[in-house]
Amino acid sequence: MKVGIDKLHFATSHLYVDMAELATARQAEPDKYLIGIGQSQMAVIPPSQDAVTLAANAAYPMLTAADIEAIDLLIVGTESGVDNSKASAIYVAHLLGLNRRVRAIEMKEACYAATAGVRLAQEHVQAHPDKKALVIGTDIARYGLKSAGEPTQGGGAVAMLISADPQVLALSDQSCLLSEDVMDFWRPLYHTEALVDGKYSSNIYIDYFQDVFKGYLEATETQPEALTALVFHLPYTKMGLKALRSVLPMVDEAQQATWLAHFEHARQLNRQVGNLYTGSLYLSLLSQLLTDPDLKAGDRLGLFSYGSGAEGEFYTGELQANYQQGLDLGLPQRLTKRQRVSVAEYERLFNGQLAWKAEDQDLDYQNDPHRFVLAGQRDEQRQYFDQQAEKQL
Ligand code: HMG
Repeated sequence: MKVGIDKLHFATSHLYVDMAELATARQAEPDKYLIGIGQSQMAVIPPSQDAVTLAANAAYPMLTAADIEAIDLLIVGTESGVDNSKASAIYVAHLLGLNRRVRAIEMKEACYAATAGVRLAQEHVQAHPDKKALVIGTDIARYGLKSAGEPTQGGGAVAMLISADPQVLALSDQSCLLSEDVMDFWRPLYHTEALVDGKYSSNIYIDYFQDVFKGYLEATETQPEALTALVFHLPYTKMGLKALRSVLPMVDEAQQATWLAHFEHARQLNRQVGNLYTGSLYLSLLSQLLTDPDLKAGDRLGLFSYGSGAEGEFYTGELQANYQQGLDLGLPQRLTKRQRVSVAEYERLFNGQLAWKAEDQDLDYQNDPHRFVLAGQRDEQRQYFDQQAEKQL
């Protein structure tokens, strides 16, 4: 029985900052950000969006009443959680109106957690083929204004419906995993921004990719040429390119050119959003599937998931006949319609998020066009609002 991704949908903010303008404001050469980092635009997440609202905004447009009825597992992968005890998945299940009999949990292992969710959801559906699982990777990447990591910020959420006989991608049972205790990137509980050893993290990422990629090929006796394209976690798009280049000597020149050409499609949408931690690999998958004209049913795609700290996994998926039907087809256009903000406005929004204090707070959400918004905090409880239904949740 085939199990895999049946639907794939994305949400981010309606605001972005231009990377050439940000580079100039930071006294850097624009080409450092545009080519050296490989980012053209960066999503600016306003205070009225958090990991919960992004997740719900990503999922609701793709879910039918029948999907909602069949979902009995919701896994939210995030490292931008809003509570130390209560899972963001509980809020998300409420916002989406999921079945009360759903198992709703939050998972954490840096950018890797959504992949852990997908793999667990896959096993769940294999055991219960009449059920569906909803897996969402949702995050806001924050390193701090004027930090070295600043051009690799961003945010958004990818929602995936996992089912039997999936429309988009049938996932391999086998995968290759690696996890070790590595201090390349972390965020102590008292920090709102990540701490990172940037160069070290980029080197560890490549080591992990090579290890699990080669491990998968060996364990499954797969020739690298059997993989039409390789899709990566993209903290910044140059990172994936560097990883891809590191394995090009394994294949002939024609295959190298094919992989490089496919990769340009896989990074197209990530270039416009930036890092979104848990969702990044799956935004790149969406980018590949939405923008690449040279894919066909039966093609096998390799997926590399990496989470600092560190955990990596390589697995594959076989493209299904009607894969376009399960995709967020309006996404490229939505990204081009976003509103550009100045560097000063981006800085104001960056500093305007809900403060970590007990007092009641109101957030300005009137200009946020998304259905689900964070309206503020009352009695130390987050206030979510459904703008479509015009009701407090
Ligand atoms: P930096 O020190 O500002 O940049 O940090 P740099 O000096 O290394 O330059 C970056 C690239 O731009 C270099 O290319 C330069 O040569 C090039 P490279 O050698 O890397 O190929 N460059 C230029 N190119 C064209 N024209 C120019 C020009 N000038 C310079 N004029 C760094 C960069 C990525 C380290 C920093 O932004 C950072 O720390 N980012 C955060 C960490 C990160 O993203 N790590 C990635 C791996 S870890 C991971 O993926 C997990 C993660 O997503 C978190 C999680 O799991 O939750 C981060």
